[in-house]
Parts: sequence; structure tokens; C-alpha cells
Amino acid sequence: MQRFTDQVVLITGAGSGIGRGTALAFARGGATVVVSDISEESGQETVSLIENDGGQGTFIHCDVANTEQISDLVQLTVEKYGRLDVAINNAGIGGNIAKLAEVPAAEYEKVMAVNLGGVFFGMQHQIRQMLTQKSGGRIVNVASVAGLRAMPGNSVYTATKHAVVGLTKATAMEYARHKIRINAVCPAFTHSAMVDKLFALAPDYEQKLLKNIPLGRYGEPEDIAQAILWLCDPANSFVTGHALPLDGGMMAM
Ligand SMILES: NC(=O)c1ccc[n+]([C@@H]2O[C@H](COP(=O)([O-])OP(=O)(O)OC[C@H]3O[C@@H](n4cnc5c(N)ncnc54)[C@H](O)[C@@H]3O)[C@@H](O)[C@H]2O)c1
Repeated sequence: MQRFTDQVVLITGAGSGIGRGTALAFARGGATVVVSDISEESGQETVSLIENDGGQGTFIHCDVANTEQISDLVQLTVEKYGRLDVAINNAGIGGNIAKLAEVPAAEYEKVMAVNLGGVFFGMQHQIRQMLTQKSGGRIVNVASVAGLRAMPGNSVYTATKHAVVGLTKATAMEYARHKIRINAVCPAFTHSAMVDKLFALAPDYEQKLLKNIPLGRYGEPEDIAQAILWLCDPANSFVTGHALPLDGGMMAM
């Protein structure tokens, strides 16, 4: 028996990068994975990768900026599998690089709706379901090192990720007695579509930033996935309310 056998795991933004890596890792651990994404094509591709690997997964479309779709996502998951054991609120967008005075209002609204609204309303529906289950549940929110320190040129992103850390801590306290463990991970630069786009825009930046990472390399989705699995491991039942840096040592400098 694998550590996530018979567990239903829902992951938002699982069509790419960290979300896809996490979906594959849970499936390898025996979970039934609900792969959700705004992009049907990339989400279905993740499901195919899971199935080719011998795992079980299904795709459910959801734009996490749309509260009705978030509600439907949890409802459809429970209709199909009868329960929700683990939720990973991973979907997020980077936003454009600009100083605060130059940020258009529409950009502010969009990044807030996806990065903060997606996690807030995601947890609201996930927790309502978990409260109906005697076994509780586990939630991991994907924040960022930008939730722990400033990322100049990306103030809205920084604000949303700080908010995700705060939301994680407050909610973890609220539901600890209901056996719902809630943690956040705070990755530093990790190879994914989001980061590759950033590096393509500013090639010098890639080498410059590397100097700030003591381990001397960028993260890979698998690095982040393994920490998320550890936080959700049923045997690891005493960890809640953390914001765990996954950063090659960056935050210790
Ligand atoms: N890659 C990094 O260096 C890094 C560092 C810190 C934090 N993060 C966070 O990790 C998470 C995943 O990022 P990634 O780097 O894997 O990026 P990515 O762009 O590779 O993947 C993001 C996925 O989210 C989906 N998505 C975007 N908007 C959505 C929406 N409104 N609703 C549902 N799905 C949506 C995209 O289609 C994509 O599949 C994000 O929350 C990001 O802020 C990433």
C-alpha cells in the first residue's frame, strides 16, 4: 500500500510547472488526482502523463478567479469520488514587471483575483467539504518566497503571496481542532512556464539571480512536489500553520 492510496487529491493549476509535477508525484504515491486548470488542453495532457505512468487522474476545468467555478470544482470532485482528502491551491500568475505607480488597475484586479481570491474561495469550499468528513483533510497553498520578502518590480504579486501566507496561518488555527491541517510552501525560482517566460524577457537576470541561491541552482517542479507530499503525508500529522521556504537556502542568507 502506497502512502496516498484511496486518497482524493485536488490540484489547481495542474496543467503546467509545479502543479503538474505535484499531480504526477501524488499519482505515483497512489492518489486519485483531480487535475484542474484554466487550460483544458494542458490539464488533459497532465492526465495523460499520469495514466501513462500507471496512475489515476481526471480533468475538471476551473478558472480560480471565478468563485462559481471553484464551488463547482469541489462539488464535481465529491460527486465523482465521494470525498476530498487533500487540496493544493497552486494556480497563480506572475503579473508584469513594473513599479507600483505604473501598474494598471486591471492588472491589480487580475493578479489579486487569481492569486488571492483563488486561494481564499478555494479553501472556503474545500474546508466546507472537509468539515463533513470525520477524517478532516490537508491543504497546501502555493505561496512564494515573495510571500516572505519583497520582490521589487512585482508589488501586487508580492502582496498576494504575503496574503496567502497570512491566510494559511489564520485558517490553520481556525480548523486545527477539526483535523484539517493547512500549510503553505514558499518556492524560490523554479523552472516552469512562468519563470522561463520571465528569464526569456531578461536573460541577464537568470545568471544574476542565481548568485542569491546558496545551492547554486534553480528549483525543479519535483523539488516543490516532494515537500508538498511531505506536508500532506497522513503519517505526518503534527505540522500545521507553516510557510515553508523551498529556496535552495535563499531565505537563510
Ligand atoms: N516557478 C516559480 O519560480 C515559482 C516561485 C514561487 C511561487 N510560484 C507559484 O507556484 C504556482 C505555480 O506556478 P508555476 O511556476 O508552476 O507556473 P506555470 O505558469 O507553469 O503554471 C501555472 C498553471 O496555472 C494555470 N492557471 C493560470 N491562471 C489560472 C486560473 N485563473 N485558474 C486556474 N488555473 C490557472 C496555468 O494554465 C498553468 O497551467 C503559482 O502560484 C506561482 O505563483 C512559482
